[in-house]
Amino acid sequence: MTSPDSIPAVPAVASKSAPLKGVARVPGDKSISHRALILGGLAVGETTVSGLLEGEDVLRTAAVMRALGARIERRGGGPDASWHVWGQGVGGLSEPEDVLDMGNSGTGARLMAGLLSAYPFTSVMTGDASLRRRPMGRVITPLSQTGARFFSRANGRLPMCIVGTPLPMPLAYDSPVASAQVKSAVLLAGLHAPGETVVTEPAASRDHTERMFKHFGVTVECGHLAGGKGYRAVIQGQPELTGRAIVVPGDPSSAAFPAVAALLVPGSHVTLQNVGLNPLRAGLFDTLKEMGADIAYANQRDEAGEPVADLVVKAGALKGITVPAERAPSMIDEYPILAVAAACAEGETRMEGLGELRVKESDRLATMVNGLVACGVDAHAEGDTMVVRGNGNPPKGGATIGVHLDHRIAMSFLVLGQVARQSVTIDDASSTATSFPNFMPLMRDIGSTIVFSDAKS
Ligand code: S3P
Repeated sequence: MTSPDSIPAVPAVASKSAPLKGVARVPGDKSISHRALILGGLAVGETTVSGLLEGEDVLRTAAVMRALGARIERRGGGPDASWHVWGQGVGGLSEPEDVLDMGNSGTGARLMAGLLSAYPFTSVMTGDASLRRRPMGRVITPLSQTGARFFSRANGRLPMCIVGTPLPMPLAYDSPVASAQVKSAVLLAGLHAPGETVVTEPAASRDHTERMFKHFGVTVECGHLAGGKGYRAVIQGQPELTGRAIVVPGDPSSAAFPAVAALLVPGSHVTLQNVGLNPLRAGLFDTLKEMGADIAYANQRDEAGEPVADLVVKAGALKGITVPAERAPSMIDEYPILAVAAACAEGETRMEGLGELRVKESDRLATMVNGLVACGVDAHAEGDTMVVRGNGNPPKGGATIGVHLDHRIAMSFLVLGQVARQSVTIDDASSTATSFPNFMPLMRDIGSTIVFSDAKS
């Protein structure tokens, strides 16, 4: 596996678009796709996955699961491709021959750290320049209590060496942060430990791990703590998992980009089919509706334990609001694109409790504020709050934005460029492949004016 650091940058330009129209289907959910491959690799027999996100992050997880002994095949092509995983059973993975490169994926790295901590072998994990800056201490701290040992660079940075334990201790871990990555790392280690593993967190983060554990037959009890403050998940370790069928819904975090573009480009009317609307993920759409957005859910249904609907989005004026910190876990990946919506809304939008944005693929609080200011928007940070003021008119635009290997920053500014008075350029669109490999063609199909460009022109 090679690191993507060496891939040449591909600049792109977005300019004022005519009304966006049509029906589109965004690719599969990134969080669910990682978990489908990991749990398939821990099950005995065949797991079939349809709708898997074939983005860089998930393909890294597939490569790592193969390196640990799972057999994984892709069959068919295009949107009808299916993925087939033959696992080795809980406790059945084997020592990888080489360094495990997680690319840009914080989720892959943290989940895999949980898994690898519970095996009696040593592995080495690295990632791209963005991932090597992100903190792993948040998983090293709990996982070290199972008996595993971790040797990282300073401040818990990758590359790190994981010396797994043959007898993982079950944990009762009180996480200081509402993070599905931390929770899932502890639960994946706990799957290999005897008895009960318990994780609590200060607020509920996305629960795809708990849902998929149940789908594979693991005994899971989870829910909000009494009084509504905090959340707890309890699992019974050392289950026998057997292969399952998994249908991955469209990623709401990807749907966010064409949805906000359709809200902002006057005259637009777009339908986004098959979008996952897990209540712990749908915070952006609730927030946009509160800002006055015309978003309707059609064809609401359940698929493989996850709520799904088609989003029908029509352009219209938005107004600024305060987004409380409690909502952050349900839309943590959506603040960059919400900030773009806020820049076009009338009045002040205050987004509170965004400390976690500082440790994503980039420092998203700083990257968004700087990029918006460069585009003529009144934006600043007050501690962990992002404040954006709009006047209901399109921002100036006309800037070139450095995206810092961050796919969601790249896509957010390509949306802003479609509504701004002057075009917006990003220095590198290649990172969109991380989570939304067909972002450019999908956006163009509904009418977006986005093109690849030469950096110097
Ligand atoms: C993810 C959890 C989130 C999110 C990431 C995917 C997951 O991170 O930002 O894109 O799949 O578990 P945290 O839970 O650490 O906030």
